[in-house]
Amino acid sequence: MSPSNARLIQHPLVQHKLTLMREKDRSTSSFRRLMHEIAMLLAYELTRDIPTIDVEIETPLERMRAPLIDGKKIVFVPILRAGNGLLDGMLEVVPGARVGHVGLYRDPHTLGAVEYYCKLPDDIANRDVIVLDPMLATGHSAVAAVDRIREAGARSIRFACLLAAPEGLANFHARHPAVTVYTAAIDRELNEHGYILPGLGDAGDRLYGTK
Ligand code: URA
Repeated sequence: MSPSNARLIQHPLVQHKLTLMREKDRSTSSFRRLMHEIAMLLAYELTRDIPTIDVEIETPLERMRAPLIDGKKIVFVPILRAGNGLLDGMLEVVPGARVGHVGLYRDPHTLGAVEYYCKLPDDIANRDVIVLDPMLATGHSAVAAVDRIREAGARSIRFACLLAAPEGLANFHARHPAVTVYTAAIDRELNEHGYILPGLGDAGDRLYGTK
């Protein structure tokens, strides 16, 4: 457990895949594949306390009541563009989920988050939102995205990432103390450009091979 409202996902499979992703010479396709696989594993933890409803079913032997998740109640909201890298893996295990998008870019001078796109399901008030962004660095984008989703009235909000910086976590929880951050690691610090150290570099560029 970390100092703030964060859950460290320390499962060896997650840690192993994260180590491979950090390696600088890993290919774009391998990096993308690993992000997809980690997303599936994170989904397991993220949905641990999602409500279930008992339904009547028939096994080959008899009738019984058994629990089901209402997948449609879950909304994944990737922060564009790196958040998209976590989306398909999450959808693979929760295929009925709805998907919203928030587009934010980092102003390279102020490091502040600038919104350029937002599309969320209309009836978000009845749904549990999981915000996706592999890197919680300064926390500005995370704060801006969660501000928007809260304004829209989501029933609950969680935040999923691969790496968090201590500064970003503190910044995020100063604004949204009740939103649990699920992360595979909390790294040492941010550098002067807002990159996480030791980190894994620019997640969007590594996912899409743009640099
Ligand atoms: N965004 C990234 O992709 N990497 C970082 O280290 C910080 C923000």
